[in-house]
Amino acid sequence: MKKIAILGFGIVGGGIAEVLDQNKDQIEYQLGEKVEIGYILDKLDFKGTKYESIVVKDIQTILDDPEVVLVAETMGGLHPAYEFSLAALQAGKSVVTSNKAVVAKYGSILLQTAKENNVRYLFEASVGGGIPIIRPLCDSLAGNKICSITGILNGTTNFILNEMENKGASFEAALASAQEKGYAEKDPTDDIEGYDAKRKICILAALAFGKMFPEEAVACEGITNLDLCDVNILSEIGAKIKLIGHAKQVDDHIIMYVRPCVCLMDNPLASVSGVYNGIMVEGNVLGKVMFYGKGAGRLPTASAVVSDILNILMSPCKVDSIKFEEGAVKELCQDRSGKHTFYIRMEQEPVGYSYRALSGAYLVDQISRNEIEEKWQPDAYYQVL
Ligand code: HSE
Repeated sequence: MKKIAILGFGIVGGGIAEVLDQNKDQIEYQLGEKVEIGYILDKLDFKGTKYESIVVKDIQTILDDPEVVLVAETMGGLHPAYEFSLAALQAGKSVVTSNKAVVAKYGSILLQTAKENNVRYLFEASVGGGIPIIRPLCDSLAGNKICSITGILNGTTNFILNEMENKGASFEAALASAQEKGYAEKDPTDDIEGYDAKRKICILAALAFGKMFPEEAVACEGITNLDLCDVNILSEIGAKIKLIGHAKQVDDHIIMYVRPCVCLMDNPLASVSGVYNGIMVEGNVLGKVMFYGKGAGRLPTASAVVSDILNILMSPCKVDSIKFEEGAVKELCQDRSGKHTFYIRMEQEPVGYSYRALSGAYLVDQISRNEIEEKWQPDAYYQVL
């Protein structure tokens, strides 16, 4: 019997218990023994449920129990999630988490602490919900130098855009529906303003390029200023506006951003709809590979946490290949002068440029963000991927 503890018994924490219960036979078969949830740390008491007797209020109870070998942190937020994770690692317990805020801010310290205490810190569920992306990036793609990562990293905003485009739902109604389905963060500002996707691209960039950049330094724009008319104009040619997280190494700089971008019909990301995420990774020898699946929700996210739990219980002392250090802000590049194709909505025609006219807008080739802003005052503009 392997005893574990769950910190935070909300959507994801409760999902872990459900997955461990639903798949207990297969898990026992794989592991050769049962997994027991020894403790749940939560503010609520869960009275009248089968979990009532294992609810504790003090992390010390968990830290002091030598039988607890692993702690799943699904509390959300930075504090006390970080302090509890650190204390668990220092007490010789491995930690798994879905908490991207903690990984993005304190990941390097927690990985180092895990190493010093001969335990493990894994965070598969922190990016892409149920999609296996962290382990493939670190292990399966280890023979590659990663050139770029481009993805739809937030299920809530992708779901909202989809509801607005296909069902004519209002932004507010679509957001409420995402919250009801358990996709959105506690504070949905993190989803709609792009902060959640920003943490995720920071984590992926750290794994790919070895540097974790402070999230505050990354260019970020959410979906709150999107005008439905752009969505409609683009839909005439089968194109979609998606909230994209992107990281690319160019010489000794990293271009990194989160912002709405246009995916033309032939871009596989255009067909990623609803709560699904799609993450395109480009390796120098493999070329492009795309990871696709449910990016949010109780069971998909719990599935990723449970995969980390089993990975650790099967190999508690494995030395992980996950490592990164703090990145300096000066290494980040805003890519304001790089030439791309842009969707631009404005009154005047883009004279002197090669362009394709849409209804009241243009797809202009070989132009930079700086040029657009210097030459015109467009009503809206988005980079075409
Ligand atoms: N709020 C997040 C999303 C949850 O919508 O993608 C998964 O990280």
